[in-house]
Amino acid sequence: MSDAVRPIVWSGDHLRLLDQRELPARETWVECRSAADVAAAIHGMAVRGAPAIGISAAYGLALDALMGRDYDHAERVLAESRPTAVNLRWALDRMRRLPDHGASALLAEAQAIHVEDLQQNLLMGELGAALLPLKGARVLTHCNTGALATGGHGTALGVIRTAWQQGRIAQVYNTETRPWLQGARLTAWELMREGIPTKLIADGAAAHLMSREKIDWVIVGADRIAANGDTANKIGTYALAIAAKHHGAKFMVVAPSGTFDPSCPDGAHIPIEERTSIELTEYQGRALAPAGMQTWNPVFDVTPAALIDAIVSERGVSLPGEAVRG
Ligand code: MRU
Repeated sequence: MSDAVRPIVWSGDHLRLLDQRELPARETWVECRSAADVAAAIHGMAVRGAPAIGISAAYGLALDALMGRDYDHAERVLAESRPTAVNLRWALDRMRRLPDHGASALLAEAQAIHVEDLQQNLLMGELGAALLPLKGARVLTHCNTGALATGGHGTALGVIRTAWQQGRIAQVYNTETRPWLQGARLTAWELMREGIPTKLIADGAAAHLMSREKIDWVIVGADRIAANGDTANKIGTYALAIAAKHHGAKFMVVAPSGTFDPSCPDGAHIPIEERTSIELTEYQGRALAPAGMQTWNPVFDVTPAALIDAIVSERGVSLPGEAVRG
């Protein structure tokens, strides 16, 4: 198991978050001392990835309790920080259900959510890896679903890590994941640290790759899985699923039970976050498009359940036609 990357650290009286906006160039940390600090870190993408957002939000409630601040206000501020990843709401609801909203009870629950996430990822790693060929597997992943996006090990990247440890993987391809470059900056960083063979491709190269080389599985995470199995994940996931279907690659979604939203009947009901146009028109202050360019920047899309061959959670593997087990 590799759990060397830990982006969320409780430090006695405050929360430290590895600033994912700065990777891979610099390893710097953001200090959060209130729920508002955590909400700003989530909205600003210092911490990102559905499970990591949920874990951080839980710590955010504990931070405000330590300062004697109003619970409802802290919960509201955190809930509004990002809309699509249901793990945020799931973690806040779990904290709300505690009989005691004192600081030590809230902190203990946040730490439990954090530890359980790593345990769930290790379990999903085993379940997902077992679906891959015993040797020579060639897989494609999108966005970052690794230790940086979770309590450790990762979801889709956790499956790839476990499969690598089992000797199943011959080659990983990881997309850039425009516009925020989670794949190029974060997934590449995580895989290269462990010597897992990966090649970076432009997002637009994925269908061409599948037409030229056999890809056994496309493996992705999720931000919200509706009751019928429709899955919201990073923008571009839907296009990968269509290409995979056309080229005979299997398509796997890996997510803990906190990513499942049984109250949401299907993908049409999943709120899709739209972010600022600057993410498309600029990179580190340099113009990528003419001044005044109009944009549309949805940062998630919905892959219909019909395009998914396996949904892996810590509770088991759901195959097409089965009830979704999350
Ligand atoms: O906008 P991000 O970087 O938070 O989006 C992350 C993703 O879409 C991940 O694939 C998803 O959260 C699963 S992370 C284990």
